[in-house]
Amino acid sequence: MNLTGGLHWHWRAWRAQAMWAQTRSDIETWLLAQPVSTDHLILIGASAGWMMSAPWLTRFKTLQTWDIDPLAGRLFKWRHGRTLKARGVRLQCHTGDALTQLPHLLREQPQATIFFDNVLGQIRFQNHSIPQAEKRLHSITQALRGRHWGSVHDRMSGPVISAWPEHALPHTPLTEQGSPDEEAATQAWLGLMGAQSPWLDHLTGSVFPAGTMVTHIAWPMKTQYWHWLQAGWVSPNKA
Ligand SMILES: C[S@@+](CC[C@H](N)C(=O)[O-])C[C@H]1O[C@@H](n2cnc3c(N)ncnc32)[C@H](O)[C@@H]1O
Repeated sequence: MNLTGGLHWHWRAWRAQAMWAQTRSDIETWLLAQPVSTDHLILIGASAGWMMSAPWLTRFKTLQTWDIDPLAGRLFKWRHGRTLKARGVRLQCHTGDALTQLPHLLREQPQATIFFDNVLGQIRFQNHSIPQAEKRLHSITQALRGRHWGSVHDRMSGPVISAWPEHALPHTPLTEQGSPDEEAATQAWLGLMGAQSPWLDHLTGSVFPAGTMVTHIAWPMKTQYWHWLQAGWVSPNKA
C-alpha cells in the first residue's frame, strides 16, 4: 500500500486546490528564482504534479518523472502534458521506486538535475523504525554527492491555532541551513503560524548539507494541521 500517494492523495489534492494555492505559488516563486544549470530534469515523487510549477518545468528540454503510484504518470500528463508539449519539453513518465534506483539513475544520467518533489519527508512512514528511515535518508544524500539537486519536503507537521489566511501565508527568507539566522527565522515563523506542540518530525533536518540556502514554506495541508516545507538546492561542490 502506498501511504504517501495513490488515489487518496489525488482526491485530497484535487479537492484542496484552492486551499493549497498559496503554497503552490510560494514553491513556484522559489523554483523560478533558481538558475537552470542543465537541460534535463528528473522529478522524483512527481505524482500528478499537483503542487508543481509548469513555468519552471518548461525551462528544461527533457523531463523524466518518477513515482511508485501507477496512476501518477497518466495524471501528470493530463495536468502538464499539453503545456510541456507546446513548449517543446520531451516528457517521459516512469512508474517505479526511484529512491531505490537512485544510484543507477545518477549513473545513467550524469547531466540531469534531480528534484525531490515532496517525497523525502515521507520516508519515515515507509520504514519500520526511525533509525532505518534516517539511514535511508543518509544513503540518499550520500549518493547525491557531486550532483546538482534540490528538494522540497516536509520538515515537520502539526496542529496550528492560527487563523492566518491561506492566501497570505508567511514564509521565511532564504537563510543558511543550521545557522543562528535560520533558527531565529524558523522560530518566528512557527510562532506566526500559531504552531502548537507537539509537531511531528519528518526526519529531514539533515537532508541538506550545513550552509545550504533554505527557505521554509507553510502548507495548510488540512484546516488546522499544517506542514512546514523546507526547500533548498545543493550545488555539486557541497559535501
Ligand atoms: C506527498 S506526495 C507528493 C506529490 C507531488 N509532488 C505533487 O505535487 O502532487 C509524495 C509522492 O511520492 C511518491 N513516492 C513515494 N515513494 C516513492 C519512491 N520511492 N519513488 C518514487 N515515488 C515515490 C508517492 O507515490 C507520492 O505520489
